[in-house]
Order: sequence, then C-alpha cells, then structure tokens
Amino acid sequence: MASPECFPFAKVGGLSDVVGALAKFLAKAGHDVRVFLPLYGCVKLPENTITYENIEVHLGGHQRICRVWKHKHDGVVYYFIEYQQYFGDSAIYFNGDYNGERFAFFDKAILDVCASFHWIPDVVHCHDWTTGLIPVYLNTVFCNSPLHKIASVFTVHNLEHQGIFSPDILAYAGIPFSEFHAHSLESLNCVNFMKGALYHATKLTTVSPTYAREIQTSTMGYGLDDVLRFKAGDLIGILNGIDDTLWNPETDPNIEAHFSAHNLHGKQLCKRALQHTLGLPLLDVPLIGVISRLYAQKGLDVFMDVLPFIFDKMQVQVVAIGSGEPHWEYRLNELTRCFPDKIKVYIGYNNTLAHQTEAGCDLFMMPSRFEPCGLNQMYSMRYGTLPIVRATGGLLDTVENLNETQESGCGFIFEHLCSDAIYNTVGWACSTYFDRPNLFRKMQVAAMAKDFSWRKSIDKYIEVYHWAMQQRGGF
Ligand code: GLC
Repeated sequence: MASPECFPFAKVGGLSDVVGALAKFLAKAGHDVRVFLPLYGCVKLPENTITYENIEVHLGGHQRICRVWKHKHDGVVYYFIEYQQYFGDSAIYFNGDYNGERFAFFDKAILDVCASFHWIPDVVHCHDWTTGLIPVYLNTVFCNSPLHKIASVFTVHNLEHQGIFSPDILAYAGIPFSEFHAHSLESLNCVNFMKGALYHATKLTTVSPTYAREIQTSTMGYGLDDVLRFKAGDLIGILNGIDDTLWNPETDPNIEAHFSAHNLHGKQLCKRALQHTLGLPLLDVPLIGVISRLYAQKGLDVFMDVLPFIFDKMQVQVVAIGSGEPHWEYRLNELTRCFPDKIKVYIGYNNTLAHQTEAGCDLFMMPSRFEPCGLNQMYSMRYGTLPIVRATGGLLDTVENLNETQESGCGFIFEHLCSDAIYNTVGWACSTYFDRPNLFRKMQVAAMAKDFSWRKSIDKYIEVYHWAMQQRGGF
C-alpha cells in the first residue's frame, strides 16, 4: 500500500481510516501487507522500530538519501520514509509545485526502497493522486527492472484533487518527457498525477459502485470522465468497509455507556453525557451530529444557511465537529454565538468527541455535493444514529431511505442540495422522532443490523489484485 495517510499514524480524512483498516484486514486474511507512509513531523513513531540508513532515491539525474523506519503491528508492516526536507513539517499537504516534488519523491522512494530491500511485491496498491506516479514509474523508468512485473491497482478516493503541476516536475521526477501527452500525464498543458495513474495503472478502483458510475459523467468527472470511460473495463467500484472493532457501541472505550440494538438505554446515557459535555440543555429533542472537513464538497454551507430557519421552527440541537475553510469555521462559530442553546461547535478533529457524537446523536447530517463513499454515515448507523444524506455516491449505496408504508429504511434521503430540501428532510426526521417513536426505534434497529464490515470488500479487493496480477504478468 502506498498512501499519504494511514490511521493511526497520519490522518486528514477518510482515506486514512480506509487504508489503515484495509491493510489490517488483508493481513488478517493471510496476505503480506506493507504500508509505505512519509514520516511527517506529526507522526509519533511507535517504540519498536528498526531503521535502515542511507537508502538512495534516484530522481532525474540526482540522488537523495533517506532513512526508512520499519514497524510491525497487527500483522502489517509499516515503512516510514524519513526525508526532512520534504516531510519534516507537521502538515501533510501543501500547495503548489513543492507538493508535487514531495510526492514525486515519495513515489520514487517507495520503489527504490523495494529494490534496495530486494522485495518485489505482487501488487502495489496506490491511493489517490499523491501516489499517482508509481504506476507511471513502473511502466517507464522501471521497464527493464525486475520491479516491472509488479501490478498496480490505483484507487480513486476523491477525483476532485488530481495533483496538477507545471511540466518542469517531469525533469525533477526523472520521468521521460515523452510521457507528456494526452494519453498519459498531460492535461491542459500541465502534468496531472491522477491522469497518469488512470492511464498507467493495471486496474482501477473507486470507493463505491455509484461513484464509479458518476465519475464517468461530464458533470462529476472533473475533466477526467473521458479517461475513465476509456478505462471503464478496468474500473470497479468497491464499497469501503468500516473497522467494526474501533467503531462498536458494545465495546467503544470512548463513550459514556455501551449499548446494542437489543437495548438502546445506553444510547440515552450517551446523549445526556454529550449534551452535558457540550453545555447544551438536557432536553429530549433530536440531536443532529456533523463530523466533517469543512469544504465545498460537503455541502454544509447550505445546511448553515438553513439552520436559523430550522432553529426557528423546530426543536432540535446540533453538534458540529470539523475544520477546513476559515470562512466556514467562522460561520459555524457565528451560529453558536447566535444560538448558544441549540448548536455547539468544535473546530478541529477530536477522535474521542467523534465517537461520543456518533453514539450520542439521534441524527447525522451529510448533505454532500458529491461523496465518493463517506464513512461517517456508516459509523452513525452502527451506533443507531440515523443519517440524513443527499442522494449521491457512497451515501446512496449505504443509506436506505425511510419507506413509510413498509416501515423500512434506516435514514432520510433528499435529492437536490437546496435549503428547501434540507429544511423539509430535517422536518421529516423530526416528525418521525416525535410523532412515531416506534418507527424511529425500528429504523435504529435496522441501521444497527447492517453489515458494513470489511469482510465482503476484502474479497473483492483480493479478486482485483488477482486480475491485476494476471493482466500484468500472466500469473
Ligand atoms: C475521501 C472521500 C470520501 C471517502 C474517503 C475514503 O475522503 O471524499 O467520500 O469515504 O475518501 O475512501
């Protein structure tokens, strides 16, 4: 696995949870899994590590020396690549061409480390644009090397971020300029790491079946839909799982009381505890949770627009955890100032509070403009917290809308991202909570009974790895 993030070492978003869990469950299934990560300044190195000094990384005619730290945990080997000049800082991502250099270095370092360890994996599984040069290197710079036979699987976690840099990056990375064309790395006269990966990887996956279809359309393809249609035969959508050992209301050490679908009493205690911790009045009104990065993708701007009207007409409370665009953080803080008894905000990421929010809320809001998979709606359902989501991507593949006649479903879905839709859907959820408590309870039980574990998806990934290996080397 090549990834810029992996739980528990480095986390910005869902990618981290997914890579961490995927590696762990693949290892449990008996595979030799090794995860490569940059050693960012923020990574707390575990105690039992082995170091390898003086590993050479060759880039465009110059060589750089890095150090590699190896650590084994839960059956997975982690290799941390230490190179102060690029990763000494605590931040995981930067802007501009510097960021391109950092991850070009990381991608080449992974392959050079494999070569110097004489370890040739069957498959390298790359995650998002930051690892996009690996399939390109394997097909070009390594074409006369034993590493050439490594099959590559590239997973799109989010097509919006593509890694677009000036063509100068090619000389830096040591990738032949002949790759600067429309069926490889070039896009709009720039180098596009994601595009290179889409063309060069042996197989492509993305994180839900619906998103796999959506990214092949011009409205959601971020300019790469033609490439994805061209490669459609090699692309498959595999739904992310969740780590149900970390997210389990029956054992979670972060929450006030444990509970299960058979007995939701503990959930009530969690709700009271959360209201108390946040300083919200201890009322029996629906408590809506939000845990999100604060970017346009997440659609929370529309939720914020409509919240004053919701607070005016409905009895609800909101807890929001997140960080991102400063003006979104500002708006959330302003809402707390105007409605101190109704909404509490935590700017930043706090794992314990995230678990307490999933456990203590009745409803969970995800009005995403697009959502490749989304994990929090699955965490929510596991804790009997009913998601209110927009009909897109993985949200559509995981949340079943309430069907009033059949009394089935485990969430509330709306189509269009507009104030009216959010207002009405929150109203629908609130009326279910107040007027039909038995139905609400039935939905909670249905949500908790859903199986979002990695079991099914692991088998699909193993199948993809086999396809990739067959295609690459005729294994
Ligand atoms: C990205 C996507 C999110 C997905 C996650 C893990 O963060 O935006 O939808 O769940 O990756 O695949």
